[in-house]
Amino acid sequence: MLRAEENQELTRVGPGTPGGEMLRRYWYPIAPSSEMKQKWSKRVRLLGEDLVLYRDRKGRLGLLEERCAHRRASLHDGIPTEDGLRCPYHGWLFDSTGQCIDQPNEPESSKFKERVKIKAYQVEELGGFIFAYMGPLPAPLLPRYDGFVVDNAIRMIGWALVPSNWLQIMENSADPVHTEWLHGHLQEWVEEKAGAKNKYAFSRKHLKIRFPEFEYGMMKQRLLAGHGEDSDDWTIGHPIVFPNMLAVGNGDEKSWRAYAFQIRVPIDDTHTMHYWHTSYVAPPGLEVPQHLLDNVAWYEVVYKNADGEFALDCIDAQDIYAWVTQGPIADRSQERLGTTDQGIITYRNMVRREIDKVARGEDPMNVFRDPAKNVVHNLPLERNKHHYSDGLASLVRRTHARFSPIADEVCKVFASVDKGQGAKAKEHA
Ligand code: FES
Ligand SMILES: [Fe+2]
Repeated sequence: MLRAEENQELTRVGPGTPGGEMLRRYWYPIAPSSEMKQKWSKRVRLLGEDLVLYRDRKGRLGLLEERCAHRRASLHDGIPTEDGLRCPYHGWLFDSTGQCIDQPNEPESSKFKERVKIKAYQVEELGGFIFAYMGPLPAPLLPRYDGFVVDNAIRMIGWALVPSNWLQIMENSADPVHTEWLHGHLQEWVEEKAGAKNKYAFSRKHLKIRFPEFEYGMMKQRLLAGHGEDSDDWTIGHPIVFPNMLAVGNGDEKSWRAYAFQIRVPIDDTHTMHYWHTSYVAPPGLEVPQHLLDNVAWYEVVYKNADGEFALDCIDAQDIYAWVTQGPIADRSQERLGTTDQGIITYRNMVRREIDKVARGEDPMNVFRDPAKNVVHNLPLERNKHHYSDGLASLVRRTHARFSPIADEVCKVFASVDKGQGAKAKEHA
């Protein structure tokens, strides 16, 4: 349980707030790169600020505050030039640093434009994403986490705009026991109501959990009923990468291998853009159609049914159900934490500690400035992940991946090497 002021400190993301200042030390994905190949501009809201991402006529990306300095019209439908973006209202032209470089209807001799500047932020592309950085300069390096840079990967990006504060989403990742219920027993109940009787790997009971801190954040480890102390889920587990990313299990080197990132981008205090960034790597010798390697697919994750209720036959919609129903900002002054909530407490302490570092003028964790140390960050990940033992096709059917336009093709590519296919689920049943 937290006091209301503590809850506020940990959850607010706007400029000038303690949490917002800490969060401004990191890069955030703001769009799939392929989306901006199809359009000239996109409205972006990030950390409580309204922005416009645009492409100029030389193909370069820029990120400006949305409102024009002149009389505050939106730049979203501006006219791109070789050097920047012209406001559609009276044609003022801004370059990618936010500097006004032309005011077509002011006297030619006027130096007024030199004194006009709007906010602008750096953008960079990696792993199929466009990232933005909104903090103090010089900007740190864009972290090269393994899934963003691994070669020969089939990549896809799912997204959902979730009406919840970012922190309760991260806390869900620090709470392993929920998988047993929300993705195990609830899934089985949903299917039972529809007349099916299935048992899933997720519903195995948690015997022990632990959360060792490590270089990039916090590991989440679980010992499940019927498993030995040498199981990957217990000896390795998977990481919560500070501040806003969960990396999930890795499949198996002989079959398909996945780098699955769940990235929580704070849009404002009460909204989070959730991205599922998945990179599948085939074992040597398995042929992958070239177009799957060349293009990054992207798709919306629809988490509600037509009747407005949560689509609870989908693992990710189950998670979103938990996040959203906690309220736009979970009221932590009303919660009652139990013994299984130790990961949540550890994570909150980390957030507080990193906020304090920023307040002291230090870089928080995972801010990288040395290129030699940013070649690739290999994250520890369980390979033989029990939750994946139902097989790829079963998992795709029950997760965000079901919305991917390449889902069937990916399953087909790995069908000959995927050893799950429900076999282990039956064994568990
Ligand atoms: S409002 Fe943008 S040029 Fe006038
Ligand atoms: Fe979950």
